Amino acid sequence: MNIILLGPPGAGKGTQAKRLEERHGIVQLSTGDMLRAAVAAGTALGREAKAVMDRGELVPDAVIIGMIDERIGSPDCARGFILDGFPRTAAQAEALDAMLARRGLRLDAVVELAVDEAALVERITGRFTCARCGAGYHDRFKPTAVPGVCDRCGGTEFTRRADDNSETVRTRLDAYRTQTAPILPYYRQHGLLHPVDGMAAMDEVAAAIDRVLAAVAPAGDSR
Ligand code: AP5
Repeated sequence: MNIILLGPPGAGKGTQAKRLEERHGIVQLSTGDMLRAAVAAGTALGREAKAVMDRGELVPDAVIIGMIDERIGSPDCARGFILDGFPRTAAQAEALDAMLARRGLRLDAVVELAVDEAALVERITGRFTCARCGAGYHDRFKPTAVPGVCDRCGGTEFTRRADDNSETVRTRLDAYRTQTAPILPYYRQHGLLHPVDGMAAMDEVAAAIDRVLAAVAPAGDSR
């Protein structure tokens, strides 16, 4: 099963991609995570991307397309993948079509997570992550069970993303409106777009996505 999770920053793409990964055994491919790993490793790509990401703008298409093209050919993608944060421009959507066709693959669904803009800012500015295992939390919507201790690994160090501040969020939302939202009609025309209410509680969003996937790729279809 090959799916895209589309939606503005903070819509819940990463949260739901991780849940899908656990439930369906398909791999999350997050371009944001790949770029942050390159930044942390101090590679040339990471150094180039960091300034762009800190401004909340989009990294050049050629860089992103190359990253995904290489990644979907990896053995762990053979059972399927969840694209989280890609495609984000018309050029990326076209390149994705070409790379899937070249490999004889197809998309099963594009799930659009729709969330009010005011809620997005609150979600993003309250987000934090365990520095040891990467588990994601939120000050209000998903706090740790014991304050200051990761539920998953017991770690006590947490990080916040450099671009998760209210100023950069405005630029990221603008980028979504002007460059990413215009690709939605393309997927709608191809009968692939499935809007899901991203304002619902996390479990309800997960259940709604599962209903979409059950309809497009019935159990047993692990292509
Ligand atoms: P990226 O990392 O992709 O960031 P984003 O799209 O801005 O998305 P986020 O990770 O902020 O949000 P999300 O939808 O995953 O929400 P989450 O699940 O964490 O990209 C970062 C940057 O990299 C870009 O700005 C760009 O510079 C560059 N980049 C990446 N891909 C690119 C591309 N293809 N082309 C060019 N540049 C690219 O949830 C947010 C918070 O809300 C969490 O705390 C969570 O706990 C909470 N939450 C989630 N769901 C719910 C719910 N239902 N109810 C209440 N709270 C919820």
